[in-house]
Amino acid sequence: MSKIVPTITAIGKYVPEKILTNKDLEKIVDTTDEWITTRTGIKERRIATADQASSDLAAEAFKDMQAKFGVDPKSIDCIVVPTVTPDMFFPSTAALIQKKIGAVNAWGFDLSAACSGFLYALEVASNLLQTGKYKKILVAGAEKMSSITDYTDRNTCVLFGDGAGIVLIEPTTDDTGIIDIDLKMDSIGTEFLYMKAGGSANPASHETVDKKWHYVYQDGRPVYKYAVSRMVQAGVDMVEKHHYTGQDLKLFVPHQANQRIIEACANRLNLRDDQVLSNIHKYANTTAATIPLGLADALEEGRLKKGDLVLLTAFGGGFTWGAALLRWSI
Ligand code: UT7
Repeated sequence: MSKIVPTITAIGKYVPEKILTNKDLEKIVDTTDEWITTRTGIKERRIATADQASSDLAAEAFKDMQAKFGVDPKSIDCIVVPTVTPDMFFPSTAALIQKKIGAVNAWGFDLSAACSGFLYALEVASNLLQTGKYKKILVAGAEKMSSITDYTDRNTCVLFGDGAGIVLIEPTTDDTGIIDIDLKMDSIGTEFLYMKAGGSANPASHETVDKKWHYVYQDGRPVYKYAVSRMVQAGVDMVEKHHYTGQDLKLFVPHQANQRIIEACANRLNLRDDQVLSNIHKYANTTAATIPLGLADALEEGRLKKGDLVLLTAFGGGFTWGAALLRWSI
């Protein structure tokens, strides 16, 4: 039997309507549009409504995918949901998405790998597909980061936004598809980027709420340092491992945490601007949703066509990071 090669055969995205600009944030915390723009590249971010949870964002992204690619929800075998903002601890966001999109024949689960969640989920979905047991797997990066963001903390509230990007993974029928995925983790990161309470270490209590432990905490400087070195290395290693150079890439779609990190990676790979997808200015950091949102935007903008070589990289809490190389299929 020939080897099963997984690929992305459909994609959809959703960002909430409400826009929170840097100017809006100037009125809430001691910050400036100038500081946010020069340090991060972010100009604005989307914010979900009070009654929208991550599963709702994913369901909207699925609708977009259905409208564009005509995917039948009943044909989906499995739903994998990388997220740090599940609707609740259980049931899984995957189960809630199943209900909302009518994927009645799917099983599924949530996956926790912070900003690298999409790449981790892509690896899991690819391996499930390669067993031959499943034919269609949905990977839904969905985040309501505003639900865990402290809008009195200028260190973090300027950085994050809400959104969802969803992809369908199926076996390829031609010579396109996912070429390779490499993932890493280093627990040194547990000190610098976390949400302290709500889990078994610090269950929710009046004290944890008073201490604001249900919000994202980030020590930005060390995270930045690790993010640059690890994400650059992951991208370079992946390209070199397959005997390519930056010039062979049609598009580089990195996790969107900071424009300066994106540029450091692009420079190391000697990429031109037109080879780099950056949408951080309009969506900020949507954690596990950044890469599928980037791919969806690239497709909408006509920057991707079948056969193009695409590099994905991510870095996030844990620390977790990695890279994926693929030949675009749609
Ligand atoms: O996606 C998961 C992985 N996350 C990342 O990759 C993020 C990595 N880190 C970063 O992107 C950057 O570290 C930040 C954008 C978070 C911060 O940029 P920075 O250049 O590293 O700034 P900093 O943390 O070193 O802070 C510089 C100064 C500080 O003031 P002092 O101590 O020098 O007086 C901060 O208090 O900037 C201050 N500051 C702000 N000032 C205005 C921090 N946040 C703000 C703000 N507005 N929003």
